[in-house]
Amino acid sequence: MASDTSTPSATAGGGAPSAVSAPDAPASSTAGVPTAGSQDVRLDFAVATGVPRLPEAERAEVLANPGFGKHFTDHMARAVWTPEGWGQDAVLAHGPITLSPAAAVLHYAQEVFEGLKAYRHADGSVWAFRPEANARRFAASARRLALPVLPEDAFVRSVEQLVAADVDWVPAGGENSLYLRPFMFASESFLGVRPATEVTYLVIASPAGSYFGGGEITPVSIWLSQEYSRAAPGGTGAAKCGGNYAASLQAQAEAAAHGCDQVAFLDAVEHRWVEELGGMNLFFVLDDGTVVTPALTGTILEGVTRSSVLQIARDLGHDVVERRIDVAEWREGCESGRITEVFACGTAAVVTPVGALVEPDRRSVPGDGGTGEVTAAIRQRLTDVQQGRAEDAHGWMHRLV
Ligand SMILES: Cc1ncc(COP(=O)(O)O)c(C=O)c1O
Repeated sequence: MASDTSTPSATAGGGAPSAVSAPDAPASSTAGVPTAGSQDVRLDFAVATGVPRLPEAERAEVLANPGFGKHFTDHMARAVWTPEGWGQDAVLAHGPITLSPAAAVLHYAQEVFEGLKAYRHADGSVWAFRPEANARRFAASARRLALPVLPEDAFVRSVEQLVAADVDWVPAGGENSLYLRPFMFASESFLGVRPATEVTYLVIASPAGSYFGGGEITPVSIWLSQEYSRAAPGGTGAAKCGGNYAASLQAQAEAAAHGCDQVAFLDAVEHRWVEELGGMNLFFVLDDGTVVTPALTGTILEGVTRSSVLQIARDLGHDVVERRIDVAEWREGCESGRITEVFACGTAAVVTPVGALVEPDRRSVPGDGGTGEVTAAIRQRLTDVQQGRAEDAHGWMHRLV
């Protein structure tokens, strides 16, 4: 129920009162954590008319070499939450937003986000990969950050409407995709430390090329973080919130300084158990074909790709185990040959072989350090489903256009 679909501004606050109410929202959220999440709320995200579009020739130039996260489509989706509920939903012009310098997100980082992709299949149709899973995780992240819960169907609807408006921006071919970034933040102007009473939800979209530039899959090297942890028990590691990434940047910079592509984190208590990378989950393939990944302990982000890989590995006949993995097992397994392959997975790079674990005094290389057979087979199956080349046996693809 968009109230101002012709307004090309995403300015949050000061707008019309919300047209939609969430019955289970607290009357006054100064008292506590927002809990609005009524499944009765219907947000339509109607598409505004008259939004300026980038001329076709310029768009074609961008799509020929999109890179990652540099270019954005013509539209964005928006909704605003207040204690009355969700409203001001629309798909409107992508553009700068106006925030008070006192907006709570700028001070206390009350923010969550998601990342998912839409793919153009050979027949021209456009599909999202498991958007319902991202909607569920977004809701779980919001709860942890004391943000209001956006109903899962509204999350999916916002993605559908945005992609419908920007369908010409979905690149075709190879592993090209339209990367979708839903996010939600405390837009209330208030410096007190408490859950915000005004929250803005936006979805922006960015065409993305193949992570590997269409070339050979290149194994990545991983620096084992020596002094930093990503998440602690009781913290926010299982939520997709901006603060987790801010906290990982110094460790990532340390990895780069050591010539590595990514950083791996161990648990914060014993500094012994393998958790994940700054932005990807980790998998190990053993010499008997078993596929192992760190169990979800509350400090690891439950990747949508991770759960898809677990299923595909089972489909391909592998035993699959979720358990704790000692970093010593990683080192010794590479040395003894017990670990034959290591790979990382996430929406951006899908499945990426790990060529080496790098520490100050040693380098642990699984197999020959190249792309292993199991890694390649899982990657192939997953990208085939995403690109519409293989049967979608698990109903993962959601048609958008
Ligand atoms: C910390 C972290 N772990 C794992 C993942 C993989 O999650 P997904 O497969 O849902 O992209 C991501 C990427 O979003 C991430 O940021």
